[in-house]
Amino acid sequence: MDEKKVVYITGGSKGIGKGMARYLLEKGYKVAISSRNATEIEKAAADLGKIKADILAIRSDVRKQEDEQHAVKTIMDKWGRLDVLIANAGVGIFAPVEELSYEQWNKVIDTNVTGVFNSVKAALDAIKKSKGYIITIASLAGTNFSLKGTVYNASKFAVVGFTQALMLDLRQYDVKVTTIMPGSVTSNFNDHIPSAEDAWKLQPEDIGQIVYDLLKMNPRALPSKIEVRPAKPPVKN
Ligand SMILES: NC(=O)c1ccc[n+]([C@@H]2O[C@H](COP(=O)([O-])OP(=O)(O)OC[C@H]3O[C@@H](n4cnc5c(N)ncnc54)[C@H](OP(=O)(O)O)[C@@H]3O)[C@@H](O)[C@H]2O)c1
Repeated sequence: MDEKKVVYITGGSKGIGKGMARYLLEKGYKVAISSRNATEIEKAAADLGKIKADILAIRSDVRKQEDEQHAVKTIMDKWGRLDVLIANAGVGIFAPVEELSYEQWNKVIDTNVTGVFNSVKAALDAIKKSKGYIITIASLAGTNFSLKGTVYNASKFAVVGFTQALMLDLRQYDVKVTTIMPGSVTSNFNDHIPSAEDAWKLQPEDIGQIVYDLLKMNPRALPSKIEVRPAKPPVKN
């Protein structure tokens, strides 16, 4: 790689975000990660910093426009460029609709949908300048609906629709846009504690590898929507 390219990953303190950060750092990218919790994001950066020093931790809540503007400014001040945005931060709440509160609805929509919009808006000028790449992490829940999934399904269907339309808006500027729709991935999603029982699932680094492959693809080719699932179902006892 000539000049090192710069990647910004929202929700990078754990799970898929941290796994993608690790993979891309190992491949020689400079990586900025953000999350709401300053202690957690600093801890993740200290851990990833053992691989390479090209890591930057930023505290940002994607629900707040000004946080995401500040995050991108911090990256530009430090590295002077931004090549890849990965809008990954997301939360899940699963409940029958009669039990779902307005607060829960707003939290999921504000994070998973408005949060992606806030990150994209903040990064847009820099990404257009670098003729870069925007990737959103949606979910198979963006095409398959499930019991108790109303708000999570609504949010991920929205991310898929938003990203596909964004792709049409931006490819005229040589900016590529892809949404990745993973099935089950081992992570801390919904306060899950990873264990040996997660071995059948995709691992966060698998999503990192997909991102890397997208970034390396011939400039004329654009896989705009990627569904990915574990190759084998869980073993039933
Ligand atoms: N795990 C799966 O099976 C799976 C499958 C398909 C799609 N996904 C999607 O993958 C993405 C990452 O999830 P994950 O599985 O890695 O979950 P995770 O382990 O819980 O990580 C979520 C990350 O998002 C951050 N975050 C949450 N709300 C935020 C906000 N308002 N602003 C900024 N950061 C925020 C969290 O940090 P803080 O709490 O410190 O903010 C954390 O770093 C999500 O969009 C999720 O919907 C997951």
